[in-house]
Amino acid sequence: MPASPSQLRPTTAHVDLAALQANFGVIRQRVGPAVRVLAAVKGDAYGHGAVGCARALEAAGCDAFGVALVEEGAQLRDAGVHGMVLCMGGVGRHGAEEAVARQLTPVVYDEGDAERLDAAARKAGERLQVHLKVDTGMGRLGVPLPHWERFLDRFAAFEWLSIAALMTHFAEADGETDVFTREQLRRFRAAATTARRRGFAPGYLHAANSAGLLRHPDSWFGMVRPGIALYGEPPVPTPGIQPVMTVSTRVLFVKDLPTGAPVSYGRSFVTERPSRIATLPVGYADGYPRAVSGRASVIVGGQRCPVVGRVCMDLCMADVTDVRATVESGDEALLLGGPEGVRIRASEVAEWAGTIPYEVLCGFSTRVPRVHEGVA
Ligand SMILES: Cc1ncc(COP(=O)(O)O)c(C=O)c1O
Repeated sequence: MPASPSQLRPTTAHVDLAALQANFGVIRQRVGPAVRVLAAVKGDAYGHGAVGCARALEAAGCDAFGVALVEEGAQLRDAGVHGMVLCMGGVGRHGAEEAVARQLTPVVYDEGDAERLDAAARKAGERLQVHLKVDTGMGRLGVPLPHWERFLDRFAAFEWLSIAALMTHFAEADGETDVFTREQLRRFRAAATTARRRGFAPGYLHAANSAGLLRHPDSWFGMVRPGIALYGEPPVPTPGIQPVMTVSTRVLFVKDLPTGAPVSYGRSFVTERPSRIATLPVGYADGYPRAVSGRASVIVGGQRCPVVGRVCMDLCMADVTDVRATVESGDEALLLGGPEGVRIRASEVAEWAGTIPYEVLCGFSTRVPRVHEGVA
């Protein structure tokens, strides 16, 4: 029998779908039955594997999914996901017909996109529901507030588009103060009032990412759009939310080095005692950031062990001298996850790397197989 990829190279991301479903349940409970929960599954579900995650979430009662790209939406439809799929990045110059054909729900903030979507809907002979996005201070996507009224006036001409919802996005709902979030909410409400005065009747409004939904109940409106909290890294401590991804590998090689022996490129680490050094088959080509060099720990034999020397493309080294059990080639090593007490969280890896947990989770490369576990 040919060896499976994980037998050939044991570095694997285990995705606990039961934990993902439980996190969805915590959020569902928090916002109550009147507020719809859209799961952000863009970026391959923040690196967790969009298809498996969306299916598990749908089985747990989730009926709305947020993607960035039309291609990501098409992938969910190909996998049989039925719920509303919101293309949060819009559909761009070439995505209108595909979005209509796949019954995706486009976010619209650009007149050109609206024109192309209107034409595609007309051609298909079916009115298309869209969500209009207004930029209340994120400065990324969305109709800039000063252009909102003019945009709405022009939008009225698109007979084949109907506005299912109005949305905006927060710039710092996880920030130290809530001053700017409050201002964004005020602007958003005002933009909604303007739209209603012009005769538009959006079914609902939505604004809240994870930080918004956990810190600002007045930002819930008709729907919330959590991403990072679903994957177990809520921006504020939240009882019941648990990590979803564990990244494990197996020790490739173990050696005993004398005092004064350098380890890895640049010899930035030199042993200060006789040391047992384990080489792990994982490096920055797998998405384990080089920036964690000299700062990270991994778990071997149930204990945290420092990652020593520079992380290489395919390998890194851990000092396992203090591990009580004898560490041997083939022993499991955890880069992310692990039992309570020693668990390594994505936010901790992010701190070591000088980045955010989003980037750590999304960053594990396609070379690391995602193994979905925890549901039948
Ligand atoms: C438009 C939009 N909504 C919701 C989210 C989810 O955000 P978070 O992962 O912080 O919950 C994102 C992610 O960046 C987003 O771009």
